[in-house]
Amino acid sequence: MDTLIDNPTQVAYNKKYDTLNDLFKDYRASHKCLPSFNVNDNYDLKAVVESAEEMETNVMVMTYPPVAYLNSPEVFRSLVDGFKKVSSNPIYLHLDHSTSVDLCKQAIDAGYDSVMIDGSQSSLQENIEMTKQVVEYASSAGVVVEAEIGKIMGRGVEVKCDDDFLASVANVRALYESTGVDIVAVGIGTAHGFTPTEPKIHFDRLQEIAEAIPAPLVLHGGTGIPDADIQKSIKMGMSKINIGTIVHSTYMKYAKTEIDKAGDTAYPPFIMEKVLPEIKAVVKDRLAAVNFH
Ligand code: 13P
Repeated sequence: MDTLIDNPTQVAYNKKYDTLNDLFKDYRASHKCLPSFNVNDNYDLKAVVESAEEMETNVMVMTYPPVAYLNSPEVFRSLVDGFKKVSSNPIYLHLDHSTSVDLCKQAIDAGYDSVMIDGSQSSLQENIEMTKQVVEYASSAGVVVEAEIGKIMGRGVEVKCDDDFLASVANVRALYESTGVDIVAVGIGTAHGFTPTEPKIHFDRLQEIAEAIPAPLVLHGGTGIPDADIQKSIKMGMSKINIGTIVHSTYMKYAKTEIDKAGDTAYPPFIMEKVLPEIKAVVKDRLAAVNFH
């Protein structure tokens, strides 16, 4: 596989796989990473799908629980299915950061390709129990399950010292081995959202974790991580990266500008025609950073 990495002409980011699990196993072995974007509605979904199409890459779109609750997992599934009809590359749909086993089950029933059960704020034992329940429910449906161990900082997650967020190798191994979860998000120093300073990624810990378990690993907090660190993490076993804030903040910022300009005549499709290229520009910029081989 090293030759694949050394020879950029051989790297196809839109290779098709029978299952999402096959994709993740291959990505872990060949040091590739599935770009995964949090989306909120049909417009940012459209921006991600079109960007992936133009850059010929597989892509994942993810709904946070508020998005899944507001629209229902069934409706979001249908929305993505609609876009799949006009897209030549696979688009995977994932439920992101669900602390609810029930919501994971609803998403699995609705046909999501992948769900995350986030027990990182609970004790290791509770995290294992929640994850086990989702893995069991997902397995017959062939749905990928992501778990989290350690903590991703930002958005109200308070940490006082490294041990508060850094995933311990023993805990990662315990979670993985006792649940059989497919992919694992690990706290290694990244944070959700815009970060006042560059996050200090603990690459030494990432190395130890990658050696301890064969599972594809997930890098959260994609907005604030410099490209060089994203790429180093990918080489070390990160097979999925989550990118959210930069997408929705661009959407909101340009929507506000255009709405303010239009005043009483503001009309959603005309506003969004102007906003979409701005969202696509940041999505494409992140795709280029992740698909760097
Ligand atoms: P950012 O909002 O920092 O891009 O992180 C997204 C994320 O990790 C979602 O799970």
